[in-house]
Amino acid sequence: MSNKDAAHPHRPDLQSFGRRKGRKLSPRQDALVADLLPRLRLDLPGTGAVDLSNAFCAQSSSSDGASDSASIADSKRPRDVWLEIGFGGGEHLIWQSTQHRDVDFLGCEPFLDGVVKVLDAVATKGLSNIALYDDDARELLRVLPAVSISRAFILFPDPWPKKKHHKRRLISKVTLDLLARVLKPGAELRIGTDIADYARVILAAILRHDSFNWPAKGPQDWRVRPSDWPQTRYQQKAEREGRSCSYFSFKRADR
Ligand SMILES: C[S@@+](CC[C@H](N)C(=O)[O-])C[C@H]1O[C@@H](n2cnc3c(N)ncnc32)[C@H](O)[C@@H]1O
Repeated sequence: MSNKDAAHPHRPDLQSFGRRKGRKLSPRQDALVADLLPRLRLDLPGTGAVDLSNAFCAQSSSSDGASDSASIADSKRPRDVWLEIGFGGGEHLIWQSTQHRDVDFLGCEPFLDGVVKVLDAVATKGLSNIALYDDDARELLRVLPAVSISRAFILFPDPWPKKKHHKRRLISKVTLDLLARVLKPGAELRIGTDIADYARVILAAILRHDSFNWPAKGPQDWRVRPSDWPQTRYQQKAEREGRSCSYFSFKRADR
């Protein structure tokens, strides 16, 4: 392994994402990053597990009194937490969190432009069920409480098409081990990809893993996008460019 590839000593994983910043943000976007992101950001503890019971309280300040009292009532009962890793432009995260107001969503994405899109949706749609981690999901997975996540999504992880970069691919035994620890028994893990050889690698890793099952009965189960799996920007681009997509649904096995 070259020095360039060596993981940072405090970051055991090779970087699986590309750039963290794109174009210059507008003044409104800068303000969202300065004011709203710190309220939604999940701070990881130095030791021990992150406390999810407080993670979704410091949300957007709603001007709607009715929804405030609804959130106070809701906060008294445990809510399911769904995790999206690498949400990109946030299309799927925003859709799911709008459809499922009774679920809390942890969105993880190091690319600031994508984070800003979710901040904008939180502010304009008054979403109060999203917390964000704007860095490597594997750091978050290591400190999430065990058996705390009811559903997880990894949609179109970076393909890293060159063979010498395959080791940067996010889906690996290490990531599946981290997910297996935090997912509840029976929890769904959805993974999408438009890269045929990555699809084979993902399936092989899942089938080898004791903690996951693949309940698919036939090709329609992964060739057809489920109606509650909204299109993402990346997926639309893949289809425009003629690549067919796999929509995998795996299950965390019972413990
Ligand atoms: C190809 S894009 C797909 C984005 C989105 N899911 C979609 O379908 O449009 C992959 C995304 O995963 C993010 N990503 C890559 N490695 C990650 C990691 N270790 N933790 C969190 N996000 C990651 C990248 O920043 C990028 O936005």
